[in-house]
Amino acid sequence: MLLAGAVGWLVYPHARAIVIPPEESAAARGRQLAEDLGCFTCHGPLGRSGVVNHGSSYKTVPPFHEGTIMMFAKSDDELREYILYGAPRSRLENASYEQEMAQQAIRMPAYEDFVSRTQVDDLVAFLRASSEMLFPPDGPASDGEELAHELGCFSCHGAMGSGGYANPGSLKGYIPGFFGPDYAELVEGDEELRSWIERGSIDRFTQDRLASFFLERQRVKMPAYGERLEKAEIDSLMAYVKWVSKEEWRDLPLQE
Ligand code: HEC
Ligand code: HEC
Repeated sequence: MLLAGAVGWLVYPHARAIVIPPEESAAARGRQLAEDLGCFTCHGPLGRSGVVNHGSSYKTVPPFHEGTIMMFAKSDDELREYILYGAPRSRLENASYEQEMAQQAIRMPAYEDFVSRTQVDDLVAFLRASSEMLFPPDGPASDGEELAHELGCFSCHGAMGSGGYANPGSLKGYIPGFFGPDYAELVEGDEELRSWIERGSIDRFTQDRLASFFLERQRVKMPAYGERLEKAEIDSLMAYVKWVSKEEWRDLPLQE
């Protein structure tokens, strides 16, 4: 892959204007980190199905999605404290919380000695993206979010379109997300966004020799939804992707 990429650069230098080098999002790095740190052993694959926890009133280790996080952590700082100390500081000082934890077979470990500050930031970005508690305003964008869940957009593009799943044969090596430098490079305006969703590609790429080589070669391809969805559904998917791409959710607190 690296070699093919390097040869591509030499043979087609103009390709640099079309495709840029890897730029993963903090949430995508956080997902990989969660894998490497063993978070998914207890919280289940991608933090979506915690293992049975005998003695816990929640019955299992809590997952990261469907708003569960909010029952445990009230802010990003409390998420940081879960990772660093095994629970928010306020709860650790609470005798009844300690008693509750003592009754459980499995306890959340403290990772203080194993993660750097930036790694904690990446993990928090992943937890936020996975939480399903960052909502676009009501209207087309929120309809689009529901549809994106139903259609499985996030299985390929990562939680909330945070990107980064491996894709052998693609120039960047992974599936791009819905925001950041990759997105800006791949989607220049509404027409291209519509074209990606309806046709699974854009003219700027299909008409370029190198870009179309990688379009064909990559193992996972963007499906074409044009024939399968109503125009209003495509419009709402576009509204959602555009909302994500604006990154205003970065400043939002998690919401119930
Ligand atoms: C040994 C099992 C185990 C491992 C490994 C583990 N956790 Fe946990 N985690 C738990 C348990 C049990 C709880 C519930 C604690 C409570 O009730 O306060 C929890 C709670 C949490 C919570 C708050 C509740 C939720 O799920 O929304 C977060 C966030 C969290 N863990 C993140 C992580 C991250 C990130 C990692 C990896 C760095 C990790 N956990 C690794 C067992 C584990
Ligand atoms: C089977 C995996 C898969 C699914 C499902 C999928 N995509 Fe994609 N998508 C891709 C791949 C791979 C690319 C990158 C194409 C390329 O670079 O040539 C892509 C590209 C895109 C792009 C443009 C590039 C970027 O920065 O993301 C958008 C927008 C997009 N997809 C939106 C969606 C939406 C909306 C859905 C759900 C309706 C969806 N995708 C479902 C694999 C998928």
